[in-house]
Parts: sequence; C-alpha cells; structure tokens
Amino acid sequence: MKKRAIITGITGQDGSYLAELLLEQGYDVTGVIRRSSAPNFWRIQHLLDRITLRPGDLLDQLSLTKIIQEVRPHEFYNLAAMSFVPASWDQPMLTGEFNSQGVTRVLEAVRQVDPSIRIYQASSSEMYGRVREVPQTELTPFYPRSPYGVSKVFGHYITVNYRESYNMFAVSGILFNHESPRRGLEFVTKKVTDGVARIKLGLADTLALGNLDAKRDWGFAGDYVRAMWLMLQQDQPDDYVIATGVTHTVQQLVQEAFGHAGLDWQKHVKTDPAFLRPAEVDLLIGDASKARTALGWEPKVDFRQLVAMMVDADVARLSQGR
Ligand code: NAP
Ligand code: GDD
Repeated sequence: MKKRAIITGITGQDGSYLAELLLEQGYDVTGVIRRSSAPNFWRIQHLLDRITLRPGDLLDQLSLTKIIQEVRPHEFYNLAAMSFVPASWDQPMLTGEFNSQGVTRVLEAVRQVDPSIRIYQASSSEMYGRVREVPQTELTPFYPRSPYGVSKVFGHYITVNYRESYNMFAVSGILFNHESPRRGLEFVTKKVTDGVARIKLGLADTLALGNLDAKRDWGFAGDYVRAMWLMLQQDQPDDYVIATGVTHTVQQLVQEAFGHAGLDWQKHVKTDPAFLRPAEVDLLIGDASKARTALGWEPKVDFRQLVAMMVDADVARLSQGR
C-alpha cells in the first residue's frame, strides 16, 4: 500500500524539496495551498502532474480537518509559516496566528480525525536567539529575539505537549538555516547570490545589506528535508537539531559568493541601516550529533558548494531573462 503524506507550505522552499523526496519514496503527496489571486507554483511546477493540491489555511481549522479526513494521511508535515524574521516585527499578531496557533490547529485537527497520524513540526534555530550555549543542542535553553522566534517556541512546545498529553507521534525538527536556489529572494543568501549574478551580468552595480557580522550555520535545504522524513520513520517520536556544525559571518558569505563569480565584493557592497533588525541573533552554530547517531543523518553539501550552486543558478536564471 502506498503511504500518504500531507505537506503544508508545499509552495515554499522546503515543501518543494520534501515533495520531491516523498515522491521518490513512493508516497502519494497532497499539498495544502492557500488561495491567492494568482498561482504561486514556480517551485513545484515540475511536480504538478504527480501531486494533489488542496485549498486550506493554517488560520482555518475546518479546512485542515476536512483535508485530513479526506486524505487520511500516514504522515503530516507542517512546514507552512510566516518565515521571514523582519516581517514578524511588522505583523507580530499575524505571525503568532500562523506560527503558534496554526500549529495548535494542525495538532488538534490530527488529534480529532486520527491521532495515530505522524506529525512533523518545523521548529527553528531562531528559537535560540541570544544563545545560552555554543554550539546549540536539543537541550540548550531558548531565548528568542524576534516575534518570529517567540512564535516558533510556542509551536515547538505545543508539539511536545501534544506528544506528552495524547501520546501522539509529534516531533519537532530544530533546523538551522538552510538554503538553495529555491530560497525566497528576501533571505540573505539568495539576496547575495542574486545580487552577485546581477552585477556579473551588468544588470546592477551595488548590493545593499544590513549586519555583516551575524553568524549563521548554513546548510542545503535538499539535505534538511531528508532529516524531516527520517524523524517520522523512527520507532519513537523525538526532537532533533539539524545543522552542519559550521558557522560563517554574512561577510564571509558575501566574500565567497562574489569570489565565486570573480568579483571584488568591496567594490559593490554597501551597508544600509534599513536592513538592521530591532534585535539580532548574533551567532548560530548547531550540534547535530543526536541526529547523526539516531537518524544516520549527515549533510552532503558544504558551505562552499552551497554558495557556488546558488550563484551558478542565479547567473543561469538571469542569463535567460527570468
Ligand atoms: P518559505 O519558503 O517561506 O515557505 C513558507 C510556506 O508556508 C509557503 O508555502 C507559504 O505559502 C506557506 N504559508 C504561509 N502562511 C500560510 C498559511 N496561513 N496557510 C497555509 N500556508 C501558509 O519557508 P521555508 O524556508 O520553506 O521554511 C519551511 C518551514 O521551516 C517554515 O515553517 C519555516 O519557519 C521553518 N524553518 C525554515 C528554516 C530555513 O532556514 N529555511 C529554518 C528553520 C525553520 P505561500 O506560497 O502561499 O506564501
Ligand atoms: N534578510 C537579510 N537581508 N538578512 C541580512 C541582510 C539583508 O540585507 N543583511 C544582513 N543580514 C543578516 C540578518 O541580520 C541575519 O543576521 C542574517 O543575515 C540571516 O538573515 P536571513 O537570511 O533573513 O535569515 P534568518 O536567520 O533571519 O532566518 C532564517 O533562518 C531561520 C533559522 O535560523 C529563516 O529561514 C527563518 O525562517 C528560520 O527559522
């Protein structure tokens, strides 16, 4: 019998890679999409003849219950969220509705229809915020620094709570930053690689950025969705840190990306206070030992390969006028 999975956030970066992985594993994949006036399928265009899309929204519990009742999945991956940290200061209430109560709605919908469905919740290293420990593990206390981080802490603990209260197979993956050519344009990696490609092709001359000193543990999204799937294949539900264990500053990212294109970053990069945040997360570096041991998970793509992949993809895309 084919396994069935529901993915919320299938139109996002991670949703598209996870859908590919589950199709390769022989799953029937259903993606939840929220209605918009125009389709937003550029990341899943190549999958549309192999997946089913159903309308639903994290704000609307009945829509979630209906989809779960109709699909009766074995696994439910809750990837949908308001995921851009700066926007969470502009819309803190909505961020909480999506990222906190949205998770409760998913858990409650699953519990009411069939509590044996396995649930993956997309937790985040942003929860560590002003870090209490270096590197960060599953046991490091949280100290979120943005409404986004705060909302994800709620989502994390409500998932743990449903597991402990109702004996559900509900797990949280605490994923550190992961990127790809499908990353949204506003995130720093994609903004930099897109900017490099534009400068390389003569379409732009400068790139304005914010804090160049922040450090992130950047991995490849294709590697990270494998960890999500592995978490739901275990005998016991548990939470895992997923990270490369290597950290770089934004400036190192910039140097690497411009260098890959044969450009001198200092001639093109400006800093603009408009991109600074009210409160910053200065340093993230994860210890994924538990995932390595228990899941057999390891990242395959390192920082240099990731940056090269993204720059090359942006040069190719912009060369074709897309
Ligand atoms: P993304 O590219 O921004 O995708 C977010 C997805 O959520 C989109 O498909 C979006 O749909 C959907 N969505 C947003 N609000 C929704 C709502 N109310 N109802 C239904 N769908 C909604 O994010 P991502 O990078 O793939 O990240 C996936 C998840 O992992 C998120 O929960 C994020 O917070 C978390 N996470 C990401 C990282 C990372 O580094 N990428 C690290 C840790 C955790 P539209 O296309 O309609 O906007
Ligand atoms: N976006 C952006 N734009 N970030 C900049 C810029 C800029 O122009 N200049 C410097 N930065 C710095 C930010 O201040 C931050 O310290 C770092 O680059 C990374 O920013 P983002 O790429 O926007 O990611 P993030 O770390 O805030 O959040 C991402 O990772 C989280 C996991 O740690 C998102 O994917 C979240 O959804 C995810 O949970």
